[in-house]
Amino acid sequence: MADVTGLSPATPTIGRLAVIGLGLIGGSFAKGMRQSGLCREVIGCDLDPVSRRQAVPLGVVDKVTANLVEAVQGADLIMLAVPVLGMRAVLAQLAALELGDAVITDVGSTKGAVALAVEEVFGAVPANFVPGHPIAGSEKSGVEAARADLFRHHKVILTPLEQTAAEAVGLVQRCWQVLGADVESMSLADHDEVLAATSHLPHLLAFSLVDTLASRNENLEIFRYAAGGFRDFTRIAASDPVMWRDVFLANRDAVLRSLDAFTQDLGRLREAVDTRDANTLLGVFTRAKSAREHFSTILARRAYMEPMQTQEFNFIASPGGKVNGSIRVPGDKSISHRSIMLGSLAEGVTEVEGFLEGEDSLATLQAFRDMGVVIEGPHHGRVTINGVGLHGLQAPPGSLYLGNSGTSMRLLSGLLAGQDFDTVLTGDASLSKRPMGRVAKPLREMGAQIDTGEEGRPPLRIKGGSRMMGMDYQMPMASAQVKSCILLAGLYASGTTSVTEPAPTRDHTERMLKGFGYPVKVDGATATIESGHTLKACRIDVPADISSAAFFMVAASICEGADLTLEHVGINPTRIGIINILRAMGGNLELLNEREVGGEPVADIRVRYAPLKGIDIPVDQVPLAIDEFPVLFVAAACAEGRTILRDAEELRVKESDRIQVMADGLQALGVKAEPTPDGIIIDGGAIGGGSVESHGDHRIAMSFSVAALRATGDIHIKDCANVATSFPGFIDLAQSVGMQVRLEDNA
Ligand code: S3P
Repeated sequence: MADVTGLSPATPTIGRLAVIGLGLIGGSFAKGMRQSGLCREVIGCDLDPVSRRQAVPLGVVDKVTANLVEAVQGADLIMLAVPVLGMRAVLAQLAALELGDAVITDVGSTKGAVALAVEEVFGAVPANFVPGHPIAGSEKSGVEAARADLFRHHKVILTPLEQTAAEAVGLVQRCWQVLGADVESMSLADHDEVLAATSHLPHLLAFSLVDTLASRNENLEIFRYAAGGFRDFTRIAASDPVMWRDVFLANRDAVLRSLDAFTQDLGRLREAVDTRDANTLLGVFTRAKSAREHFSTILARRAYMEPMQTQEFNFIASPGGKVNGSIRVPGDKSISHRSIMLGSLAEGVTEVEGFLEGEDSLATLQAFRDMGVVIEGPHHGRVTINGVGLHGLQAPPGSLYLGNSGTSMRLLSGLLAGQDFDTVLTGDASLSKRPMGRVAKPLREMGAQIDTGEEGRPPLRIKGGSRMMGMDYQMPMASAQVKSCILLAGLYASGTTSVTEPAPTRDHTERMLKGFGYPVKVDGATATIESGHTLKACRIDVPADISSAAFFMVAASICEGADLTLEHVGINPTRIGIINILRAMGGNLELLNEREVGGEPVADIRVRYAPLKGIDIPVDQVPLAIDEFPVLFVAAACAEGRTILRDAEELRVKESDRIQVMADGLQALGVKAEPTPDGIIIDGGAIGGGSVESHGDHRIAMSFSVAALRATGDIHIKDCANVATSFPGFIDLAQSVGMQVRLEDNA
């Protein structure tokens, strides 16, 4: 028999399955299990004669009965699929029977009430009882609507208790998995809280709104004018009233908590409308819009991807491409982050153009929205920030999730150390491995109270209300993030704060602070700031990111016949290591139309093919090209002779260990690349086709896309979703200049 997931057929491990209640959910479970081959026999039990008549002909069960005792006799698994409030009566009958080792599970949508009923009837929840809830349904109901694939790609939440036997949980989990569901575990209380907020409350609101409008407009004429918005919002008011009545009775406490929070927020909105408080209205609407968009993305991903493949986002880059034309790459990531931070802390309205709409800078934007800053956009790179002043941030409602972005976490830690509220900063798997001691330690010396996770890694827990004191900090590593963190903390510390760097690093923070009218003294390697001044809103034009342009600089340099112009690229002297190094290797790069825009130098960069040669990379260029090494390694692989990089151990603590990951990838393509503790030695030569791992590092993924221009076969690049952190639209732009890179089709 076929397994409905399309996986290998299951071997029967269950003798008899009894499904009590043959509605849509019970019927679909029974039908799917019957088709899966996981059980030898499926018995259905339902009091409704019509359902009983249909169940066998529809292939839902092997046998059907109205008698519960008969149904559960000799059953190995008993599935209770009756309405939540009907559960107690069924349980009471079961408790009186000798059920042997039978595992009992259910599909009730409120778990606390079911567990309570079980406890009352059995004395204690038995170890073989596994509470469950499939998050699936359909507008149709009844056994006639039962579908074996109803649960495919849907979540099923199991809420085992402390005493629940692991084997019982395993069995129930296996059943749901065989039906193609994505099984998760959580506590009873969490389940009821989450469902109250995401399902029960919206149903209550929909019922209520339709009733309010209908009862005040007797002939329902008003609905003739109701457009799509009303239809979308109230669709669920057509759901089964009896079932929903039971849900609210059963999940009373959790629903009340959600409803109270909502009523309070609605009250605030009412007041904002009443007092014409435009800022509050815009704040709520912009935050909600971005949350809804985030949610749509999650839903879209789920809709077209197999559950097991949600992580798979691979590129295929093929040889034979060209690199010609004139393009503008997205906005500078470092400047985009800082524009949100300083714009939020400024007095007045800051307008940003050219903002990078990548996941990293959006994480910063979201963090400030969470702290009460009203930010409009981004829309085509335009962002409007309604600054709240240096002391206007508010405590966020929860922890600040910063995704993949080390810059957000490190810069924010300095700024948040000086606030009077507590914050927790978290990130994705890659960010959670990155060192934060480098910011926590100096901030503690300034008086901040910060806890890190193990070995100085995220999450960061920052206590508010600390008295920060200025200090002179000699930075042990060349890091613009650490420097910026300390300078931002200096805005809140008493007296002056200075940072001295061992080598020049990007100075966007210093430049932008000055752009906002905040005095910063830069004297050689030392930048000094004094608290007590204010930031004044301004306009910011974010240039194209030289770090993103770098992929195309190398692409054009290694591709015979290439001639490419990169428009409006930021050429801040602390960022141009890539240009200097490529030129030293023989690259043909011309800076055109040099100008200054909003305190940052900008140029169009024309790059033409030129044979490259290997070099010893000058160590003073390392901090100036720190993000460009992955793609420079590709240039080195295409160069004649040997390229040596030293003094670059910082590369080992970026989004991935960029020395090791690039060495592994280049070696997989047949390139001689030998990692050293602080760098790499690469001998130029032929690049073959093959498969490489990007380890979720955006710059590694894009670098191997470039390498394909000189490869002898396709390069499959794994795990590329994070390209969206810094370079949304990379594939389209690369194709537009003639590169042969595409998303692997997972279908
Ligand atoms: C950045 C500084 C650099 C860089 C990162 C962005 C910044 O990090 O690698 O992509 O915006 O300040 P380090 O300070 O860790 O070198």
